[in-house]
Amino acid sequence: MKGLILTAGKGTRLRPMTYTKPKPLLPVANQPVINYGIEHLYNLGIREIGLVIQPHDEEIFKNYVQSYKIKDIKFHYIYQYEQKGLAHAVGKAEDFIGSDSFVLLLGDNLIEESLALLMDSFNKEKINGTVMVTKVDSPKDYGIAEIENGKIKNLEEKPVNPKSDLAVIGAYIFDATIFKAIHSISPSARGEYEITDAIQWMIDHGYAVNYVNTNEPTFDVGTVERWLEANQSMLKKVPSQWDDDFEEGITQNSIIIPPVIIGENCKVENSVIGPYVSIESNVVIKQCHIKNSIVLKGSCLRDVPYEITDSVFGERAKMIGKNINNNSIYGIFGDDSTLHFSNSNSNKKE
Ligand code: G1P
Repeated sequence: MKGLILTAGKGTRLRPMTYTKPKPLLPVANQPVINYGIEHLYNLGIREIGLVIQPHDEEIFKNYVQSYKIKDIKFHYIYQYEQKGLAHAVGKAEDFIGSDSFVLLLGDNLIEESLALLMDSFNKEKINGTVMVTKVDSPKDYGIAEIENGKIKNLEEKPVNPKSDLAVIGAYIFDATIFKAIHSISPSARGEYEITDAIQWMIDHGYAVNYVNTNEPTFDVGTVERWLEANQSMLKKVPSQWDDDFEEGITQNSIIIPPVIIGENCKVENSVIGPYVSIESNVVIKQCHIKNSIVLKGSCLRDVPYEITDSVFGERAKMIGKNINNNSIYGIFGDDSTLHFSNSNSNKKE
């Protein structure tokens, strides 16, 4: 069994962050989203993983793979030149997969359920495909499954009038039949080759597709709101840094309200941090109050008189202020962005 992770999405709803980093490499609780997916595959015993990437991201993924903690996985890079949908992306991996079965993961999905559930269901009978579904609040944003007598009757991508609230989430297992399906479907109304249409083709042509249902949290890290939600959920699982092992020297005269994670070589002074803040390495925070936010490597937040909340700071972002009225501020600040406040109320964003 092989693994395939789709990482070539455009990430338009996460700009400017995705101008400099593909979405699956954005950190959740200080780990790239894709790490959680790779760990799932590793736990299933999979040691060969294809990454479908945009060709210009190869360097960044190679660097990522080089620094990845688990070494006995062989990664393959598969190019998707044009973003024509998830089924199109899977189709690019046909040679890599060959006649094997494979676990397909969407690189921006963070799934807390163990994928053993999916695997057991796939292995049970003579099955050509297994999908994972979960109840969602906004079915119009997902591929939706209509179930009848314990079987998937119909799948619809981002339906205007959803027939259920069961979304197909980003973990699937297929045999090579999926490639037959992908070759047979046409682009959807939005011009994409949809994975849901390929699965529907399998069902319509008599192939066996079953499903498993999970109640564990699942996040599609496609917007800042969902990124922050995923971060909250994963931070709750990270063992607290603020007990006996409390690292003197990182924080001075500061209040930490867990859950919070702080990376290496950070300096936190005269600040209130948390709850739900993840801070990558080499960050300086002085005289700030920050909650429910994500701060990437090398950022500097100093003398910000507002409470910073629901925000994301890209690598080396700077937010520096003085003598401003008390209020709160939120936003998404890209890599290398600088925001200065002055007491004349003028501000400058580069
Ligand atoms: C994709 C799939 C959709 C699925 C969703 C899960 O949508 O097309 O069927 O329900 O992922 O996150 P996207 O998030 O790419 O719009």
